[in-house]
Amino acid sequence: MWTNQGLQGLLQKASVKNDMMREAMAYSTLAGGKRVRPMLVRAVCEALGGDGEKALPAACALELVHTYSLIHDDLPAMDDDDLRRGRPTCHKAFDEATAILTGDALLTLAFAVLADNPTLPADVRIEQTLTLARAAGCNGMIEGQARDMQSTGKTLTLEQLKELHNCKTGALIRAACTLGALAAGATAQQTRILESYAEAIGLAFQVQDDILDVTASTEVLGKTQGADIAQGKNTYVSLLGLEGAQATALELRDTALKELNTLSLTLNTHTENPVRHLQSLANYIVERDH
Ligand code: IPE
Ligand code: IPE
Ligand code: MG
Ligand code: MG
Ligand code: MG
Repeated sequence: MWTNQGLQGLLQKASVKNDMMREAMAYSTLAGGKRVRPMLVRAVCEALGGDGEKALPAACALELVHTYSLIHDDLPAMDDDDLRRGRPTCHKAFDEATAILTGDALLTLAFAVLADNPTLPADVRIEQTLTLARAAGCNGMIEGQARDMQSTGKTLTLEQLKELHNCKTGALIRAACTLGALAAGATAQQTRILESYAEAIGLAFQVQDDILDVTASTEVLGKTQGADIAQGKNTYVSLLGLEGAQATALELRDTALKELNTLSLTLNTHTENPVRHLQSLANYIVERDH
């Protein structure tokens, strides 16, 4: 709800002139989605005693980048998927050129949104801009996507797959935590602890995505079940088996929860259990069914 309203407002404010682009941007952005990354931005900010509203632009910017990455991920030249968030993918609902341009437009809009946040001082906005650029860019999410494409049909080692997942999915999830920490003015120590938490849940998120490709139904998933196997993707399930992947996800969740215990010791707040939303998100990431 929080994210949807923020995104709706941003799309309106962008007043996209081209009818097809305006429709496609709204189609993919407002199609649903779990909004895990924006929730993380807010939960980190509020756990540290910050004002969640000041983190809303960064939360939406991150979701815009995530949505663009999904539109491009689904293109015929990449994973060639027809279904996303329970609806035809952007290139199916519109056409390929529109899907490419919609991704480009959402990515670009994200950086305008970060720069244009009147509730945070300029130095914080610059740090947030750098954080998102590094996470989304050629040594972050794009590097993961490149490795994913280059290794499809070949078998990676577990270490190689871990690095791939850490880039492909981990980078944006780590960025969520850093963006929230920046909005709240976290200490260096808190930032370090949150980075470890984010690293664990970021990897867990993609391990669970790999698991759901095998265990969930297309209806519940909102995307085509079995797509990884059909395409010869390297996944935690293909390397470790279902049980091995499930055990890994739970271990990562436990690591994340331990980091939160350490974080609690640094928090000087009167709220009861200020990290509870971060705990819930760590649990949700490995328990989710879609
Ligand atoms: C799917 O992300 C792609 C991955 C990085 C695994 P999500 O599972 O967060 O997708 P939505 O936003 O809920 O649709
Ligand atoms: C996509 O990973 C990650 C990014 C879009 C960066 P996947 O290809 O596993 O995501 P799904 O399963 O299509 O959502
Ligand atoms: Mg992919
Ligand atoms: Mg895909
Ligand atoms: Mg997947």
